[in-house]
Amino acid sequence: MNNELVLIVDFGGQYNQLIARRVRENNVYCEVISYKDAYEKILNKSPKAIIFTGGPRSVNELDAPDIDKRVFELGIPILGICYGAQLIAKSFGGDIKSLKAREYGKTQIKYNSECKLYKNVESNNIVWMSHTDQVVKLPNDFANSANTDSCNNAAFYNDNLKIYAVQFHPEVNHSIQGEIIIKNFLFEISKLSADFTPSSFINDKIMEIKNIIGNKKAICALSGGVDSSVAAVLVHKAIGDNLTCIFVDHGLMRKNEGDFVEKVFKEKFDMNLIRVNAEEDFLESLKGVTDPERKRKIIGEKFIRVFEKYANNGEYDFLVQGTIYPDVIESGTESAAVIKSHHNVGGIPKDIKLKIVEPLRELFKDEVRKFGLEMNIDENLINRHPFPGPGLGIRVLGEVTKYKCDILREADAIFREELELANLDKKIWQAFASLLDQKTVGVMGDERTYSYIVALRAVTSVDGMTGEFFPIDYSILDKVARRIVNEVNGVNRVLYDVTGKPPATIEFE
Ligand code: XMP
Repeated sequence: MNNELVLIVDFGGQYNQLIARRVRENNVYCEVISYKDAYEKILNKSPKAIIFTGGPRSVNELDAPDIDKRVFELGIPILGICYGAQLIAKSFGGDIKSLKAREYGKTQIKYNSECKLYKNVESNNIVWMSHTDQVVKLPNDFANSANTDSCNNAAFYNDNLKIYAVQFHPEVNHSIQGEIIIKNFLFEISKLSADFTPSSFINDKIMEIKNIIGNKKAICALSGGVDSSVAAVLVHKAIGDNLTCIFVDHGLMRKNEGDFVEKVFKEKFDMNLIRVNAEEDFLESLKGVTDPERKRKIIGEKFIRVFEKYANNGEYDFLVQGTIYPDVIESGTESAAVIKSHHNVGGIPKDIKLKIVEPLRELFKDEVRKFGLEMNIDENLINRHPFPGPGLGIRVLGEVTKYKCDILREADAIFREELELANLDKKIWQAFASLLDQKTVGVMGDERTYSYIVALRAVTSVDGMTGEFFPIDYSILDKVARRIVNEVNGVNRVLYDVTGKPPATIEFE
């Protein structure tokens, strides 16, 4: 990547991805790295600016996450947020103490407008606080730049060293004008040039892929979802007919999805496409398996084995995957906990024979869409709701069988059809049905029924990292529920999920 780089040093805070998003929204390229070995990585990657994130620990703990002090001698502008701010204070000889009560939530703050960080920011403002420790004595040579009622050193800085520290979270929307503070750090202080644009990314990636794959051949793991489609088109631009897409129909697709994918890629993009019908194989390997992580790993591994089968004739050396940044991060970085193993990361067997190419590995979902449109990929394909690689395998809860998948396919199609009719599909990030692993009693006609429960979920989100349930009108839910129970055999109850992420995740498993 030729773009100017900002490195975000991850101390385990919950808003770290949000910081990355805020930086990217300014057309500045950034990566999140663990605090472990951060100094070496910084030397290696030569970032133009560095951001220290928040974190759950106290800098006063003996084994608290730390950073090599030589990072402060590099002359690279640094912004420390929350834990990151306290670490800066401690590194320069300041004092940090625990408060009796945590300062949490929206908090009134007063900025010192002399500090460049607050250019064009109202001096009396609201910020989002979430801390128990605070800096009680500033290090020498640092000046205070903000305070709140219960935090005297809510921000501080040293212009000569280009080091800025804020106790609050400018990346969170509740911090009014927080986005300007981040902009000021990037442009007023770090003098970045906003060079991370769709066309620069695409051109750089095409060159990079050409360099990596050369005249060799690659296969692409095409699921028909947005990510793998954009990855395939990007690699096709770089290596043309040396790319063959393998579309593994694992029997865990939505209704009619397999035919749709085949048509688009063969007819519209004129790509080499092999459709492998592996339904029986996948279902056989999922027989009796109920644990979500095991299901994910099995599906991930099966995918790879199927590709290997096609690649093992020695014709192909590379495997292209549509892995995106949240897949990488949610599968567990050194500092973040494993939430779930996204199939295309956690499921990859250690002894994989093909070399993996993941051209979208650095991108968030909305960026993938933006870049896909830039490459003239059909809007209908780009704006489709995300569909997870393990497909219905993680939407049929508990053991996966063909019978349950068929039920779910029909229910899901009805739900999505009604949302489209009501013109709601475009307002929603992702809508789908899941089949619970539980039957309940109902009554149909004069008969008792004992059938499955379908749970509907529709969420809004920017990048899948957080989300809110979408308030679908009761009349529409009513229509969907009636249709599902009447038209789909095996279902007698329909629920609507009203949980956000967090605390739930978007998919049920
Ligand atoms: P969760 O359930 O983690 O989902 O809140 C966040 C977003 O990621 C999608 N998702 C996946 N996508 N492979 C994928 O390609 C996966 O294994 C996977 N698991 C979840 C999910 O549909 C949502 O958009």
